[in-house]
Amino acid sequence: MPRSIWVQDNILALLRPSLLLLTGAYHFFMTILEVIFVERRPLTLFNITKLRYKSFARLWTKNGEAMSIEMPGPLTELLSTCEGVVLNIGPKSGEILSRFNANRITVMYGAEPAEDFHTDLLRNAQKKGFGDKYHALQCGGEPESLIPALYKSGILEVSGRAGLASDGVFDEICCVRVLCGVPHAQQTINGLYNLLKPGGRMIICEHVVNPWRTEGRMLARFMQLVYTLLGWPFFMGGCELQRHTPDFLKDAGEWDKFDLKYYGPKDAIPFVVGELVKKGGKSYAEVVKE
Ligand SMILES: C[S@@+](CC[C@H](N)C(=O)[O-])C[C@H]1O[C@@H](n2cnc3c(N)ncnc32)[C@H](O)[C@@H]1O
Repeated sequence: MPRSIWVQDNILALLRPSLLLLTGAYHFFMTILEVIFVERRPLTLFNITKLRYKSFARLWTKNGEAMSIEMPGPLTELLSTCEGVVLNIGPKSGEILSRFNANRITVMYGAEPAEDFHTDLLRNAQKKGFGDKYHALQCGGEPESLIPALYKSGILEVSGRAGLASDGVFDEICCVRVLCGVPHAQQTINGLYNLLKPGGRMIICEHVVNPWRTEGRMLARFMQLVYTLLGWPFFMGGCELQRHTPDFLKDAGEWDKFDLKYYGPKDAIPFVVGELVKKGGKSYAEVVKE
């Protein structure tokens, strides 16, 4: 590769997050103006958390579709093979629903805590052929929020064990660009592991901490720290650039298959994409075949 293109590519990979960060800051500023001059609710300015999430929702509403055109790695192929009872964590307005094959899916639950997205989410689910197979749950992916919502929806029975759900109800659980922002990532992932049937599959597409000790790059790891200090989590709705998500997934439990690959490992926003199969059971397709 010519040196100039190499330099261009590498510098872009390190600086790309700064564009997103500036976009986040712009939407935060615009949200402040909207709150004061359009909604005329200046007291909201004292609720910084609300303001941050409102501004992140604004950013995603304006840019979510464009940011979903190209997804890293084999995500589209993986989602298109999802079947059975599926849980999708943080679907937002359902930008990625078109990548599933609705005919293969028995029922899909979307755990989306932001109520503002639900109307568009259900509309998109209809458009993509899910009909009444799609259920939007107003909850997060963390067990304390997800379990009661699943229980309410009727798919779970809560056992006597301090409100813990009965294990293994989902054939597939999909986490796309969401684990970077869930609270207590390890506990959340452990909870999702418990909800997966033995033999069930987790599909992952997440940006993670740069793997600088192996296939990554120290400068990219350093830039993650810089972007974090410049306010990435503040302007990006609590999203963390430096999450050790692959380790959390490994530690969640035993897997028959753990196939996660890095995409853009030398970038400041490297992704891991792949599929993990929970140990000890048959897949949905094998059970159906029997
Ligand atoms: C970056 S967007 C990604 C949306 C979608 N998964 C995609 O890739 O197009 C993150 C989504 O996760 C949702 N979210 C935020 N906190 C969450 C939580 N604790 N549990 C589940 N979803 C959450 C946000 O409301 C938002 O819809």
